[in-house]
Amino acid sequence: MIKQYDQSFVLETAHTSYIFRLLPTKQLEHLYYGKKLTVSSSKDIEPLIEQHAFAPGNTNIYDEEHPEYSLEDMRLEAGMIGKGDIRIPFVEIIHADGSSTNDFLFQEAKINTSHTPIRTLPYALNNKEELEVTLVDEAYAVILKLYYNVYPEYDIISRRAVVINNSDEEIKVNRLMSTQLDFSNHNYVLTTFNGNWTNEMNRHDHIIESGIHINASLTGCSSSRANPFVMLSGKHTTEDDGDVYGLNLIYSGNHYEAVEVTSYGKMRFIAGINPQNFSFLLKQSDSFESCEAVMCYSSHGFNDMSKHMHAFINDCIVRGTWQHKERPILLNSWEANYFKINEQKLLRQAKAAKKVGIELFVMDDGWFGKRDNDQSSLGDWQYDPKKLPHGLKHLVDKINEIGLDFGIWVEPEMVNVDSSLYRSHKEWTIEIPGHNQSEGRHQRILDLCNPEVVGYLTDVMSELFSSANIKYVKWDMNRTFSDIYSQYLPSSQQQEVFHRYIIGLYKLLDNLTKAFPDILFEGCASGGNRFDLGMLCYMPQIWASDNTDALCRYHIQNSYTYGYPLSVISNHVSSTPNHQTLRTTPLDTRYNIACFGILGYETNLADLSNEALEEIKNQIAQYKAYRHTFQFGTFYRIKQDLHNWCVVSSDQKEAMGMIMQELVLPNRQHHQFIARGLKEEGHYHFFNQEKQYNVKLFGDLINTASPIHIKQDSLAHHVVAKFVKMPGEVEDVHTSGSVLMYGVNLKQAFSANGYSEQVRYFQDFASRLYFIQEESEIK
Ligand code: GLA
Repeated sequence: MIKQYDQSFVLETAHTSYIFRLLPTKQLEHLYYGKKLTVSSSKDIEPLIEQHAFAPGNTNIYDEEHPEYSLEDMRLEAGMIGKGDIRIPFVEIIHADGSSTNDFLFQEAKINTSHTPIRTLPYALNNKEELEVTLVDEAYAVILKLYYNVYPEYDIISRRAVVINNSDEEIKVNRLMSTQLDFSNHNYVLTTFNGNWTNEMNRHDHIIESGIHINASLTGCSSSRANPFVMLSGKHTTEDDGDVYGLNLIYSGNHYEAVEVTSYGKMRFIAGINPQNFSFLLKQSDSFESCEAVMCYSSHGFNDMSKHMHAFINDCIVRGTWQHKERPILLNSWEANYFKINEQKLLRQAKAAKKVGIELFVMDDGWFGKRDNDQSSLGDWQYDPKKLPHGLKHLVDKINEIGLDFGIWVEPEMVNVDSSLYRSHKEWTIEIPGHNQSEGRHQRILDLCNPEVVGYLTDVMSELFSSANIKYVKWDMNRTFSDIYSQYLPSSQQQEVFHRYIIGLYKLLDNLTKAFPDILFEGCASGGNRFDLGMLCYMPQIWASDNTDALCRYHIQNSYTYGYPLSVISNHVSSTPNHQTLRTTPLDTRYNIACFGILGYETNLADLSNEALEEIKNQIAQYKAYRHTFQFGTFYRIKQDLHNWCVVSSDQKEAMGMIMQELVLPNRQHHQFIARGLKEEGHYHFFNQEKQYNVKLFGDLINTASPIHIKQDSLAHHVVAKFVKMPGEVEDVHTSGSVLMYGVNLKQAFSANGYSEQVRYFQDFASRLYFIQEESEIK
């Protein structure tokens, strides 16, 4: 709901209010963003207005008629340079006369019934109302439009801006942010998620005391170095209680989120396209659009904010055929084969996949050109006849005959110098002609600023996707930008390359997703180097990390869930020892972590033991039975000694929970599982899936029970292990939702003494999955 009371604007969602007003000096003053306030007149709003009777000390006053207003210490909707505000600006425009002073003043406001389209960038769907505020810098004939969109049921408000050049001279937009929040104090913690390849999404909490803290990417992608999702929370906010703002951008390129504590103790948060290495030339009548910023406030802690973000992303960001559709369980060929693939091997692995219940077979890198390593062939998207002697279509048909759908890996944005494409189109890459070029993974980036390149890639990919029965595409992007120069743009526009690349990318993705609406696209950029809301407007799921180690994955996935729903997080069960860390973790833990989200496997199933295959078969059958909740349920992070997750179906009738331990603490045997999101008074059955353990997992402890001595790892040990299984513990509880949410005491964990079905075998990196089902009454 958007309301206007005299000079004030009130944006309301189910549980939040956002309020600002027009100052007598005609700038917009921010008044409030937080828990919903009851206001129905401008009188109700008055107490929210900061009182100004004089401008303090050596500040500048905006104009003579208003000696009480110094913009330096006012809370504004859009800060700008040159009229007294000396904080990080929202907008910075260099005019034809060289000045960067901007004086945008209110002209009009109107309420639109739907989202005004963004010409060049993706934006959220399903909004109910939009407030469009027009500000004008009369002296330079430049317009700044601020757009506010309200998504009431998700408690989401979005913001963005547009600059229009109405003058008859060229101007340069040096920065245009998407949102700005001026807080009256700085009692907040800024949470950012940083990392790098195979080490995405490390959570960092920064207590903001003074100065400026910046979370940004200059890689050309939203990046694994600094995800654009950030949070501002109270110092005591927990998963279940306290104030938190979740903030994100619908953008996949260089982004920028900054928090500045002012010398008056106030705090400005600002977010948008990174202004570093950025400047956009606007000719007469041209306009520039910022990306859309997504904001969510909750007074009920991180989980509640995440819940709203998740629902918003599922309903308003992800779109198309696969939006609410259950996603297939896949086998990806990469870690089983790397570049060494061929038809025979793939078919063998696909057959093994079918036997355990997998639904989709994905042929990863290595299938095209002469791609025997990462030094050649990107750009040449024709199958390698040595590896696929009967062609791609033949392989796909064979995979379909086995009973699996087929998916393919591509990295369309890239080219190797050793490729026919590069040899014939050297002018199509991002590089400075005649200079030494830096490369990443031996590859160069195609210049998507150039519409001809976008058109070419649309054609080549369309041809590939329609050449066989392709149901899934893994769209990869494996380097960061260097030698930033478009051979297509004139020198005066080279600062536009980063942003124009993203506009070109979105155009390409728009072309292809419209042409192939039924293909399931999975985003990937060396894992999570482009995990953002922009990509999710085209690709319903993203490969979260090249790190498939269960312990690392727990932390990576846990962090993603602060800002992103399970339905977009793609996870694979892989080999042990793990290829990235050489850590050995139990197969059930690898699955127990991967099943929270989109499940896949990435290991040579044709080489696994029958025992492992049997376990995988059970995992897959179980996942299929609970898939909807694992992919689309309401997810909760639970703080306790063990790692603890819970995901609940929308009707609260079904839930799954997970606990995981890192290292065993000796003689610490009593653990709990804690549920969330159940009906307090509902009756539930809490249970686990019975398991049997290989006796060899107990090593030479076998001799404490065996009548004859058995040498560890001897033939005798193997033979006994074939016939003797150790029973796993059984959990079987009937109780109320409120008790389960307080916590269930689990079977005692193994700790040196006797083992029986009453004892939980719980080694390093052990985990458990629990099931909770509503029943009509407590049994
Ligand atoms: C990237 C991806 C991997 C795999 C390889 C193939 O690293 O993240 O999953 O597809 O490329 O080269």
